[in-house]
Amino acid sequence: MICSCKNCIALGIPEIMREEHEELHYELRKATKVLGSVGKTAKRVAEILHPHFERENELVMPVIGIARELAEDRSSPDFPRAPELPEKFKTECEKMLHEHEEIVEAQAEVEKAAKRAKKPAVIAFARKLKMHAKTEEDLTYPTVLMVGKLLKQST
Ligand SMILES: [Fe+2]
Ligand SMILES: [Fe+2]
Repeated sequence: MICSCKNCIALGIPEIMREEHEELHYELRKATKVLGSVGKTAKRVAEILHPHFERENELVMPVIGIARELAEDRSSPDFPRAPELPEKFKTECEKMLHEHEEIVEAQAEVEKAAKRAKKPAVIAFARKLKMHAKTEEDLTYPTVLMVGKLLKQST
């Protein structure tokens, strides 16, 4: 149930995070269509990235979506469902960090191929993807774990 009252929130993905994932997907799709080694290496990234993003959209992003409300002591009819997400994430965090390593390795191959083929847009995409993973490791994932701890304390 999604409540539109301004004091309530629903478990949703913050718009900016949804947009970032969609933009990376879109740029990756374009890269996979480039002929030769750029397209080939981009397809390898896509194989790892798609299930990884789906998992993040399910377990990670919705938790970030409630961080502000939690900090402001606001409530939501969906709040009782929230604690299970960081708990599940805790069990999958290591695997997801390993996927980041695989993504960054595959991304480096895309970047190399794009440099050889002189494809600046693909080079920019590859670098953006690497930063995306680093931001999640340094900021997003720890925030989810912290929200999980706060939720435990407040229940
Ligand atoms: Fe992500
Ligand atoms: Fe990620």
